[in-house]
Amino acid sequence: MSGNDSITSCLREDHRVLEGRLDALSTAIGSGEGIAESLVLAAELARRHYWREQPFLDCLALYEPALADKLHAQHEEVSEISARFEEALAAGQTRDMAALARRFHAIAQHNIIEEERDVFPLADRCFGAQEQEELLAGLAPALDDSSC
Ligand SMILES: [Fe+2]
Repeated sequence: MSGNDSITSCLREDHRVLEGRLDALSTAIGSGEGIAESLVLAAELARRHYWREQPFLDCLALYEPALADKLHAQHEEVSEISARFEEALAAGQTRDMAALARRFHAIAQHNIIEEERDVFPLADRCFGAQEQEELLAGLAPALDDSSC
């Protein structure tokens, strides 16, 4: 499918933006430099993406409730790690930062892969034209200056 004529093509664009931040985080983890700064940026973007993706998951739940729940749980886990890390940062505790960053990265990246490999093709087959239209019309503002 070309252009942004489906909800999944818009969400794929989000994933490319988020992966840019995840790659930067991976570099920071590798060098041991700027992990907290990189994690702050990645966490903020992940939150916004999950917010944008939630109506898609709600629609998916009509067809595949267990799968929608599983993805939602992954989003929740990433958001919980973000909250734990932000609390630790606010308290000046940076001891577990690299471990939290690695866990954040692993789950966020796994979630993107699973959605694109298993879930988006399924949604493209299940969702009707009206569902596509409603999801695209209701999409929250884009993560960058893309057309979605
Ligand atoms: Fe996603």
